[in-house]
Amino acid sequence: MKPPLQKILISREQLQSRIKQLAQEINQDYQGQELVLVSVLKGSVIFLADLMQELDLDVEMGFLYLSSYRGETSPQGEVKRYLIPFPDIEDRHVMLVEDIFDTGASLSYAWELCKKKNPRSLKTCVLLVKQDIARTALPPLDYQGFTIPNEFVVGFGLDYKEKYRQLPYIAVLDASSGSNG
Ligand code: IMP
Ligand code: MG
Repeated sequence: MKPPLQKILISREQLQSRIKQLAQEINQDYQGQELVLVSVLKGSVIFLADLMQELDLDVEMGFLYLSSYRGETSPQGEVKRYLIPFPDIEDRHVMLVEDIFDTGASLSYAWELCKKKNPRSLKTCVLLVKQDIARTALPPLDYQGFTIPNEFVVGFGLDYKEKYRQLPYIAVLDASSGSNG
């Protein structure tokens, strides 16, 4: 595998140390409480796995499988949900775990869906937040890892056409190779 990368934006070490910091904050904020981590498939599984190993809390995992379509007709992203079992989150503390906040459409969709199920509390934890994006839908970002420039990135769960999710760092794809889009 020779991924066409322009540059590494966030190294494995930087990811690990920031995720540890986020977990420490979460450990403090939820001390002695149970937390349901709801991860948005597929991009956030690697972040979820690393984050939860640092949590000193009783946690449960839940998944939402969302896919967003982009294109000339849907610049803000139209979100589709594939049905998979979802935990009962009523009256429980819930945290949405997401890989990246781009247009915000996916996280907004997940946020509204969880909200309707009446959790005791609902927060969000997002690894990457893209800068300089005009967003209409804005769920609160409670925990965020890094802000990054408005570029297409891969690695650490994020893909380009399903590839490169396994890279242990976040990298910018090389647009000149014709692989970006
Ligand atoms: P949204 O635009 O915030 O709804 O992001 C939708 C989804 O698109 C994210 O959860 C990611 O899976 C994916 N996505 C957004 N930006 C990137 C990127 O730069 N690289 C790879 N996937 C991305
Ligand atoms: Mg995603």
